[in-house]
Formats: sequence, structure tokens, C-alpha cells
Amino acid sequence: MRIDNLKDKIVLVTGASKGIGKAISIAVAQSGAEVILVARDEEKLKQVKEEINHFKGEAVVIKADFSKENEVIQLFEQIKKKYQRLDVLINNAGVASFGNTENFPLEEFDKIMNVNIRSVFLACQKAIKLMKEKNNGYIINISSVVGFKGYNKQCAYGISKHGVMGLTKSLAVELQEQNIRVSAILPGGVYTDMVADARPDLDPSVLIDPKEIAHTILYLLSLWDTNAAVDQIYIRRNKSKPF
Ligand SMILES: NC(=O)c1ccc[n+]([C@@H]2O[C@H](COP(=O)([O-])OP(=O)(O)OC[C@H]3O[C@@H](n4cnc5c(N)ncnc54)[C@H](OP(=O)(O)O)[C@@H]3O)[C@@H](O)[C@H]2O)c1
Repeated sequence: MRIDNLKDKIVLVTGASKGIGKAISIAVAQSGAEVILVARDEEKLKQVKEEINHFKGEAVVIKADFSKENEVIQLFEQIKKKYQRLDVLINNAGVASFGNTENFPLEEFDKIMNVNIRSVFLACQKAIKLMKEKNNGYIINISSVVGFKGYNKQCAYGISKHGVMGLTKSLAVELQEQNIRVSAILPGGVYTDMVADARPDLDPSVLIDPKEIAHTILYLLSLWDTNAAVDQIYIRRNKSKPF
């Protein structure tokens, strides 16, 4: 799947080294965007860049740890210096760990909040500044079905993904006049390392392919210049219960 309104757009994808973020990065590059690939694992990011360059797509690698405020700030300083703009921010980097609430370590809670919500908030702050200068932009946040309903032993992760929904809904209203769109995607189980590690009970053959999430991103971006705005898309596994 390709769309035709991404040519020469600068798209930042966090968590681009593997899983959903890698699939999104390849898909937007195939549609002609220049992709800024961000995560901690520089080697894996370089491999994604090579895949993109292989089909003559454009990508740059910037290593940044989203549990560290200064690294998020430095990332946006580099983007401002190199491009003086940012067209699309895709907040995809995320971590998950599960357990009963009563025994859940607070250090683990803080780690999840830092990566999944605090740095996402900070990235939005920095992106908005760049987007406002051009009076145009699109922020897409990867939440989860866990940001919509409650799941056993997923309290901390659930709080972070509900937080992403609060951020998305608030910004969608706040930025409307600046012509900056904000949407969220809420996927169910997608076949990535995160799910393989956390939910070995799930049969991989019934999980969502990361490419389907990438196609959903393209669908949202294809509506960018139209009168239709999609605030959130809930994607569940075909074999799971509707809502
Ligand atoms: N898989 C699912 O079923 C599912 C469902 C709903 C929502 N989601 C959400 O989708 C997003 C992507 O998940 P995934 O399934 O693709 O997981 P994944 O395969 O584990 O990938 C996670 C990505 O986030 C990056 N990341 C993690 N910690 C980071 C940090 N401190 N700083 C910068 N980057 C960091 C990782 O890169 P490095 O390790 O190289 O830093 C990696 O690229 C997450 O927000 C997740 O919550 C996933």
C-alpha cells in the first residue's frame, strides 16, 4: 500500500528498530517520506535504514533513549538544526511489563511512565513547536486496546496507554486551529517481540501483522488534506471478542 501525499515529508518514528515501528518506517518511506529512525539500538536502526535505502527510500538514524529527558531534547535539537521542520511525529516507542498491582515495583512503574507517557508528552511539546512554525503537522500516537479497557495484571501499562489517549484527545482539540492533526491507534495483539515476551499464551497465527498497523498509519495520513479527521482507530484481533 502506498499513498501520494508523503513525498518530501519529514516523518519521525520512535521505536523504529523493530516490531511495529520498523513496519511503519518502511511503509512511510515507500510512500516517499524521509524517515527519522529513532530508538536505542543503533545497529538495528541501521539495518532498517539499509532496507529503506535498498528501495531508494530516504532515512536517517538518530539514537535516543526515551527514558532520558535530555536525549529526547537533544533529538529535537538535531531535527531542528538539520531540517528546520517536522511534518509527522509517530509516537510508537513503548515498553510493557506485567504483574499484580499490589506487588508491582514502583521503579518498574516509573520506567513504564517515563517511556510510554512522559517522553511522549515531551516529544509532542517539541514537535508542536516545529509544526506550529509551518502551521501544519500530524501527530499519531500508538496507544493500545489496553488504553481502552482493563486487562488483568496490566495496571501500570494500562495507566500509561490510557494516558496516551488523554494526551491524544486533549491535543486534537488544542491544536485544531493550528492545522495540526492528532490521532491514536489502539491495536490489540500484534506479532512482535513485546507480545512474544509478555503473552507467550497467545497463538502467533491469530495475532495482527505489524504491516497492518503500518497500513492504518498510511490510511490516517491519506486523510491529512481532506475534511475527514479520524480521532482514534481500535484494531482488535479477528479472533478476539468485539469490545
Ligand atoms: N505488540 C502489541 O501487541 C502491541 C499492542 C498494542 C500496542 N502496542 C504498542 O506498540 C508500540 C510498539 O510495540 P512493539 O510491539 O513493536 O514492541 P517491540 O517490538 O518491543 O518494539 C518496541 C520499540 O520501542 C523501542 N523502545 C523501547 N524502549 C525505548 C526507549 N527507552 N527509548 C527509545 N526507544 C525505546 C524499541 O527500541 P530499542 O529497544 O532499540 O530502544 C523498539 O523499537 C508500543 O508503544 C506498544 O506499547 C503493541
